[in-house]
Amino acid sequence: MSEKEAVAITIRTALPSDAAGVLDHIRQTSLETGFMTVGAEGPGITPEEEKRHLENIDESENNFLLLALDDEIIIGMASIKGSASPKIKHIGELGISILKEYWGMGLGTLLVKDLIEWAESSQVIKRLELTVQKRNERAIHVYEKLGFEQEAIMKRGVKDDGVYLDVCLMSRLIGEAD
Ligand SMILES: CC(C)(COP(=O)(O)OP(=O)(O)OC[C@H]1O[C@@H](n2cnc3c(N)ncnc32)[C@H](O)[C@@H]1OP(=O)(O)O)[C@@H](O)C(=O)NCCC(=O)NCCS
Repeated sequence: MSEKEAVAITIRTALPSDAAGVLDHIRQTSLETGFMTVGAEGPGITPEEEKRHLENIDESENNFLLLALDDEIIIGMASIKGSASPKIKHIGELGISILKEYWGMGLGTLLVKDLIEWAESSQVIKRLELTVQKRNERAIHVYEKLGFEQEAIMKRGVKDDGVYLDVCLMSRLIGEAD
């Protein structure tokens, strides 16, 4: 086991006071990999706006944000975003990002499992969905391992580094329809 694997990682829900750290994490992951929707332009919001966003998540029944921390540094983020609109508030959009240094240690699997458990206990979420670049085989492997199915391919779903790429729409149903 490497020194990094021996480090204790904390997983907890995000707090409004995490705003600056969350933006730093988005900035770093968007530069480390072309797999994110946000690119070199960065998150484009201020820490104050992010703080309000985190306060809203805290008060919402279909929004959730989990952080993984190594010491004080946010090394992973996993989110469910739901709409306030009654007709689609049962749909949660899943997002996840982990700093490259921490890939391949099982953290992505752990965080997606935690999101599924939260969705199952929410009583509101009946469908988790996400979009992922077709070339992102690692992420697709994690999602399929945890019960997500590919529903559609969105041709030219994203443009990275001047190249149009296929994007896959995936979903996982949660609980019974009622
Ligand atoms: C995708 C991501 C969340 C995965 O997190 P992770 O911590 O590396 O994932 P894990 O270590 O839990 O699992 C990786 C799995 O992928 C497998 N894997 C690695 N490379 C692979 C490849 N090229 N093809 C298929 N599977 C692969 C591993 O063997 C492992 O499978 P196993 O658990 O069955 O042994 C992480 O790499 C990441 O944040 N990437 C950048 C952002 C991103 O792509 N987000 C998703 C956008 S939709």
